[in-house]
Amino acid sequence: MTVPVLTIDGPSGAGKGTISRLVAKKLGWNYLDSGSIYRSLAIALLQQCVDLADESTIVRVAETMDLAFECGDALVVKLNGIDITAQLGLESTGNTASIIAVLPEVRRVLLQKQQDFRQFPGLVADGRDMGTVVFPDAKNKVFLTATAEERARRRYKQLKEKGIDANLACLIDDIEARDRRDTERATAPLAMAENALYIDSSNMTIDSVIEDVLNLIR
Ligand code: C5P
Repeated sequence: MTVPVLTIDGPSGAGKGTISRLVAKKLGWNYLDSGSIYRSLAIALLQQCVDLADESTIVRVAETMDLAFECGDALVVKLNGIDITAQLGLESTGNTASIIAVLPEVRRVLLQKQQDFRQFPGLVADGRDMGTVVFPDAKNKVFLTATAEERARRRYKQLKEKGIDANLACLIDDIEARDRRDTERATAPLAMAENALYIDSSNMTIDSVIEDVLNLIR
């Protein structure tokens, strides 16, 4: 029997993480935050001062990094035994992740690490290419998006709540640059899978998005 998978793809800041985590909890399924795998590699590269133009070293670091995801009340990610959870959410980590994510060899190395999350009773997988490349046979696929302005506003609010100073115009620029890198890259670009349910969450509450996603599964 194959393990059922629900894929939730979309651009940065569309709310995929929040929605995926809550849907996984409601279903009692496992959860893959594939962005955190790219982000972990970005942290490993920054720690080792690897030149982001040095593709062969980047691939070697991707092949040898030891990643552990510990799912308690909150997710804890360990890179080579050290807790990197606090650094995962930084803007600089996300930006570096999106730069190295364009490399086809990096994507090939990280593919199996992502597919290993497919365990019973099921998996909710969030990312950019979950429905198109990593789990193309998934029965249920969602493409979750929102306008760049709305995504930047949500990010601004999150940062302010954490006491981090932010500038809305800069956040919009960052989000648009990340969107361009993610959609224009040659390998596994951000794209809606053919049979995915399209949800624009710009004017929706979290509860109504969850309802739409659960209706798809039902
Ligand atoms: O989703 P998140 O913002 O954590 O992802 C960080 C970056 O990692 C994205 O901007 C994207 O470039 C890359 N990524 C990817 N494929 C995925 C998940 C993330 O290319 N499945």
